[in-house]
Amino acid sequence: MPEKKEQLYEGKAKKVYATEDPNLVIVSYKDDATAFNGAKKGTIVGKGVVNNRMSNLLMEKLSEEGIPTHYVKELSERETLVKKVSIVPLEVIVRNIAAGSLAKRLGLAEGTPMKRTVLEYCYKCDALDDPMVNEYHILAMEYCTEQELKTIADMAIKINAFLVGYFASINVELVDFKLEFGKTSDGQIVLADEISPDTCRFWDATTHEKLDKDRFRRDMGGVEDAYKEMMKRVLG
Ligand code: TMP
Ligand code: ASP
Repeated sequence: MPEKKEQLYEGKAKKVYATEDPNLVIVSYKDDATAFNGAKKGTIVGKGVVNNRMSNLLMEKLSEEGIPTHYVKELSERETLVKKVSIVPLEVIVRNIAAGSLAKRLGLAEGTPMKRTVLEYCYKCDALDDPMVNEYHILAMEYCTEQELKTIADMAIKINAFLVGYFASINVELVDFKLEFGKTSDGQIVLADEISPDTCRFWDATTHEKLDKDRFRRDMGGVEDAYKEMMKRVLG
């Protein structure tokens, strides 16, 4: 069992700790929930456990599909050993069905299927409220290289293709989701952060009931139950 050393970072939903190995860190998932860049705060009891276990299982499946990820080993209900990466400062958003900010921006009814998968990028910067950027901004600002951006986009499309099928098999529509990528000490781009009801929109495929963090963002109630339902479907 790797030893947890000093805390390196505390984010909105996770803490990161050093280990004795400079290439490995431990992430610890909290129950804290925020929305609208931290303007709305709350607690979703048990969320840390759901997100940790679900994200790990999905990363394991994705690595079997040939997608490199930061995941190394689940240590406990809330803690996971991952590769230490420098995070590419982009939120990569993948959309299959219009919802949220895309529905608003383009005047689409939520639930309108997109005729092709849509990729969007936001620059990760709390002070600027994570502004949307395009490929030209990313390269001009050197958030990553052209080759890295190509790798990231190709990986995002492959991840989506796999996840859409996987979630369909548990009667869930994968509406949209957010990915983050990191660079390991040897320069490899890997999938990082998490894949969970915090970072995805999940709709029940039959009833279209929301099974994700939108229940918290929109004060819909039933937040914990939605997370538990997704955990049950994913982990059995
Ligand atoms: P959006 O419709 O609000 O732009 O969100 C698109 C997807 O990205 C949705 O699945 C929620 C996820 N997301 C995050 O994971 N973090 C964020 O900060 C935001 C704004 C969205
Ligand atoms: N990441 C956003 C925040 O921290 C929350 C969200 O809408 O997912 O406020």
